Amino acid sequence: MSVLLTGGAGYIGSHTALALIEAGEKVVVADNLCNASREAIRRVEEMTGTEIPFYEADVADTAAMNALFEREEIESVIHFAGLKAVGESVEKPLLYYRNNLDSTLTLLETMERFGVRRLVFSSSATVYRDGNAPFSEDSPLSGSCPYGRSKLMIEQIIGDVCAASALSAVILRYFNPVGAHPSGRIGEDPSGVPANLMPYISQTASGKRQALTVFGGDYPTRDGTGERDYLHICDLAEGHLSALRYCREHEGAEVFNLGRGESVTVLELIRAWNRANDMDIPYVLGPRREGDVAVTYANADKAKKMLHWEARRSVEDMCRDAWNWQKQNPDGYR
Ligand code: NAD
Ligand code: UD1
Repeated sequence: MSVLLTGGAGYIGSHTALALIEAGEKVVVADNLCNASREAIRRVEEMTGTEIPFYEADVADTAAMNALFEREEIESVIHFAGLKAVGESVEKPLLYYRNNLDSTLTLLETMERFGVRRLVFSSSATVYRDGNAPFSEDSPLSGSCPYGRSKLMIEQIIGDVCAASALSAVILRYFNPVGAHPSGRIGEDPSGVPANLMPYISQTASGKRQALTVFGGDYPTRDGTGERDYLHICDLAEGHLSALRYCREHEGAEVFNLGRGESVTVLELIRAWNRANDMDIPYVLGPRREGDVAVTYANADKAKKMLHWEARRSVEDMCRDAWNWQKQNPDGYR
């Protein structure tokens, strides 16, 4: 029996594939490669010495999903597939709703048709309403952009399906996953100019970008810059294994935050990078980025108590491993 990873060739999916295989799970990947490279899965195969059945398919394609479920013995699904760029979702809301909702609906229908009853879903901390961090799972919710709203809608759809059927689901709200596997073989490979902080720092370190612009120095935070809950991608990947185990033993739907439960400012992250990699990242202070919030971090107690999962790696580990990946793969998987 296998675990299907939709979007498994992506950043979080590829690290999770590795963690699952290392824990003795069998993995199947379906990805349409709209934001990923086949090379990521090839490298996971090389690192584990395991062949991973790979389906280049759109999860919203019913015929393709039927064919996959007919061919493979799927026991559970981790649903990573989705579009995730906040700014793009504001410009192209229909693309985001169509892709994220359709893929989930087709997946849920296919799972029902084939009697597959366990689902882990990638949600996001972006579903929390701004203003009262740390966020616990019962903090007020509100989607602040089409991307966030698509995640909220999917959470609700999954809840409804769990209530009406034998489906068991774990919804994971990720905070800010960063870094790469310590081997430097797999990592985050954004296309174009990185929108997120850690990839931008990495490319500044490598000389691809001249200097980092710090978006806003006048927030009501420790040093005026935004505070976030960064967590190492390998900790996040291991969180999926815990979620899968939980899902196998419990009925219904449950939501968990995956974060470290500590906030780090932009300037603190730059200093951690400089310490970990013996560097001096050039940066300039710029205006705030539209849509940004001052502080986001998790109350991570529920996952600790019920999933027996907690992030173990430090901010320096994240910076060291991000740099190791960047150095070894200056052009990502290309
Ligand atoms: P990613 O873009 O690297 O991975 C998503 C994968 O899904 C890609 O490989 C893409 O090709 C694939 N995909 C997209 N639509 C598809 C479809 N219709 N059919 C098949 N494949 C499809 O992103 P990621 O960072 O690995 O994120 C994985 C999931 O976690 C996403 O759902 C994202 O919204 C969510 N998430 C990510 C973060 C983060 O910071 N990276 C934070 C919160 C939530
Ligand atoms: C962003 C998304 C969020 C998503 C998350 C993880 C937005 C508004 N939010 O969150 O939905 O879940 O990524 O993918 O895009 N920063 C700089 N300079 C930069 C880039 C970022 O100073 O060049 C700052 C930001 O202002 C913020 C922090 O760094 O304070 C982190 O930014 P980023 O990595 O983009 O993540 P989030 O904004 O938390």
